[in-house]
Amino acid sequence: MYSDTEEISRSVKDTAMSIACEYKSGLEGIPASQSSISYIDGHKGVLEYRGIPIEELADRSTFIETTYLLIWGHLPSAAEVDAFEYEISHHRRIKYKIRRMMEYFPETGHPMDALQSSAAALGLFYARRALDDPQYIRSAVVRLIAKIPSMVAAFNLMRKGNDAVMPRDDLDYAANFLYMLTESEPDPLAARVFDVSLILHAEHTMNASTFSARVTASTLTDPYAVIASAVGTLAGPLHGGANEEVLDMLEKIGSVENVRPFVEDCIARKAKIMGFGHRVYKVKDPRANILQSLAEKLFDKFGHDKYYAIALELEKQISEKLGPKGIYPNMDFYSGLVYRKLGIPRDLFTPVFAIARVAGWLAHWKEQIGENRIYRPTQVYTGEHNMHYIPIDKR
Ligand code: SDX
Repeated sequence: MYSDTEEISRSVKDTAMSIACEYKSGLEGIPASQSSISYIDGHKGVLEYRGIPIEELADRSTFIETTYLLIWGHLPSAAEVDAFEYEISHHRRIKYKIRRMMEYFPETGHPMDALQSSAAALGLFYARRALDDPQYIRSAVVRLIAKIPSMVAAFNLMRKGNDAVMPRDDLDYAANFLYMLTESEPDPLAARVFDVSLILHAEHTMNASTFSARVTASTLTDPYAVIASAVGTLAGPLHGGANEEVLDMLEKIGSVENVRPFVEDCIARKAKIMGFGHRVYKVKDPRANILQSLAEKLFDKFGHDKYYAIALELEKQISEKLGPKGIYPNMDFYSGLVYRKLGIPRDLFTPVFAIARVAGWLAHWKEQIGENRIYRPTQVYTGEHNMHYIPIDKR
């Protein structure tokens, strides 16, 4: 028989043990929420948004329609999508105070940092309202989907000392963004390829930035803070920032002949090869297949990219050597080649990823606040106990 105190201490020990046993570094395999937004089968290379295969959406949908699907859970009727598009196209302008604020950002700063600050600043302009008010949710969705691309394009021009280009209401979402970047109307193929790439980047279950968005949302703060925290999380090189680094790596490799020694050296040093590997996919990311075919369409129309041959050889070598460990190209491997052909500057690759992912973050924000409980996990304490304060002259 144990005394009450011994019993309690045993049960505390058991709980601590069971928590310690369940601990998984990086929360690998631990469900952080229930969600009906998207689904991945990482062994079969399946990705679905609201049950619809990504290949079908890439082939037949638009980014705006897909955004509606993700956030409101069903494909919109013609009237619904028209109304959504109309509202978005009339909220694309950014307030002059936001532009004035951007003028003071250092021009050498990374555009992801500028985007995070600008997204957070949007919250200053819109009073926080009840999170169960569908009108408030709708207007926050419209503003964020409409204004994030305008902020990315504006910072890009303003850091070079130019004025921001005003959006054009007659252009669709993708074409308008490319127009705001360059002040020239894009080729229809380029606009469609960009729109498809936005669809592909829009949502991806419980990735790091979406988790960050849900944790922030669970405190019932405003949606601008939710998006700002997710942008900050997306920026890192292990997540959205990898797309920028892939092109640096291809340029550093320099030639097809250099691929093999590069791969062998990385494997010997246990260095991570950017654009490869994924926590969930153990086969090639289905979005990488689609992006690769989009890149090829662009090369056919606008001319080849000499780094594509290096990319193909790299994929071949890594698949041979690391494929048995489930390391294949992820979405970030081919997106940089697509973006470069579209004339998007390299340090805007991750902000462009963010433009698309705002759709998924907002879908998760809406889902989270609809069934909210604040995120408050536990930890496995590995520190000391029964330590005592030592006066500074005795340390
Ligand atoms: C995105 O989660 C999402 O859904 C993200 C995303 C989305 O849409 O939101 O898909 C977008 O972030 C894509 C990932 C972009 N990042 C990169 O391309 C960076 C390079 N890749 C990795 O560092 C890595 O693969 C991660 C970060 C993507 C996944 O990391 P994990 O799951 O923590 O895997 P790990 O680092 O623990 O690696 C497991 C094993 C290791 O080998 P062992 O020590 O077990 O022998 O696989 C090896 C790793 O060394 N490995 C790699 C590798 N990725 C994993 N080896 C070489 N090169 C790589 N890229």
